[in-house]
Amino acid sequence: MTQYTESAALLERAKKVLAGGVSSEFRKYNHPHAIFYTHGKGSRIYDVDGNEYLDFTLSQGPLLLGHSHPDVLQAINEYSEKGQLFAGQHHREIELAEKLADLIPSAELMRFCLDGSEAVQTAFRIARAKTGKPKFLRFEGHYHGWLDNVAWGLSQPSADALGDRESPNAYPWSAGLADNARDEFLILPWNDLELVRKTVAEHHHELAAIITEPIMCNNGCILPKDGFLQGLRDICDEYGIALIFDEVITGFRVSLRGAQHYFGITPDLSIFAKAIASGYPISAIVGKYDWMRLIEEARVIHAGTMNAGNPTIAAALATIQVLERDQPHERLYRFGQKLMAGLRQAAAETGQNLKVQGLGPMFHSGFTNLESVTDYRDTLSYDKAKLGKFIAGMHDKGVRVIGRGLWYISAAHTEADIDHAIETAREVLGNL
Ligand SMILES: Cc1ncc(COP(=O)(O)O)c(C=O)c1O
Repeated sequence: MTQYTESAALLERAKKVLAGGVSSEFRKYNHPHAIFYTHGKGSRIYDVDGNEYLDFTLSQGPLLLGHSHPDVLQAINEYSEKGQLFAGQHHREIELAEKLADLIPSAELMRFCLDGSEAVQTAFRIARAKTGKPKFLRFEGHYHGWLDNVAWGLSQPSADALGDRESPNAYPWSAGLADNARDEFLILPWNDLELVRKTVAEHHHELAAIITEPIMCNNGCILPKDGFLQGLRDICDEYGIALIFDEVITGFRVSLRGAQHYFGITPDLSIFAKAIASGYPISAIVGKYDWMRLIEEARVIHAGTMNAGNPTIAAALATIQVLERDQPHERLYRFGQKLMAGLRQAAAETGQNLKVQGLGPMFHSGFTNLESVTDYRDTLSYDKAKLGKFIAGMHDKGVRVIGRGLWYISAAHTEADIDHAIETAREVLGNL
């Protein structure tokens, strides 16, 4: 029986000084409670009770190379010794920006920030400034960070509560949001191009941007329907609206050039964050010159004391160097798809209604009888209690998966790791 006694004791101590015992809300939702870890190496992470886990959480996505990649550590150590932050520029920033401009189709000009949430807000600011219009259109179930104008439509109590598809109810995710935050956006179900077309035709005079995850990673890992992203591109072109791709998860993971390269659709602005620097805090707002020049001209202000620190930039450059040298994407897809197929097979053998979908480098598993899950409304059919038991069962057997059923594959995972995860899942599904 896996023990969590040390973690439980630390959590009690932490709760006295850290609100809820954690530093990010999502960290509460581990099994059986927030867990305290000691270290990570490759595809494994270890907790204070001495438990070892095969890790498919990868720190919610950033650890594309796995934990503690030696090349990244070496780069950080070397550059930390030369200083941390200069309140000024250093030449490695240019190297990183040149590299991203080389790789990412839409990246003509960029700025570095610390995390996805603030880069998303920077994109909105640029879009509003350039178009002179106040609102953005977003989609149910897409996560764009935790700040006021995007903390809606993520935690609906039920499908019924979502209301009409043409004018959905968007529940606030938090108390204390600014009174006017709900006025900043329109929201629609995802993957319904006709509905977007109709809504934009009616509201284009107030819309500065459409923002979307190119794959709806945060709920169900749902792929865009054929033509959906191209349709968004066309609508934005027709009405002079910014198309913003939130590539916080897909960036580097789907391909080194992003989901925009994978799908062949070039947005005006996009946000890259999680996987850029193997767990060090950096994000990038990148975009076409016509939009980004508003920052260049200081018509749109973007700033940040901690932006583009020496070690962080070194971590990003080292990460990209390893990705270019080792070319792990073919393996990420192969292993991810093998794991997806193995889970489906295990579910079929044990009579479980487990639905597994995604591309491979990241995918989702959840229990539903729906044949097809194409938007957030469909994901509300997932049996959360059953998923909780599955995730807990996996965790007790040393396989760590994100509580909402999302799996990430890293370059450090081996074929034996994938086989082990499938065997464990078969056992856990059989006992559900
Ligand atoms: C698609 C997407 N956008 C934005 C964010 C917010 O990024 P951060 O947590 O770095 O602020 C996340 C975080 O999970 C995300 O998945």
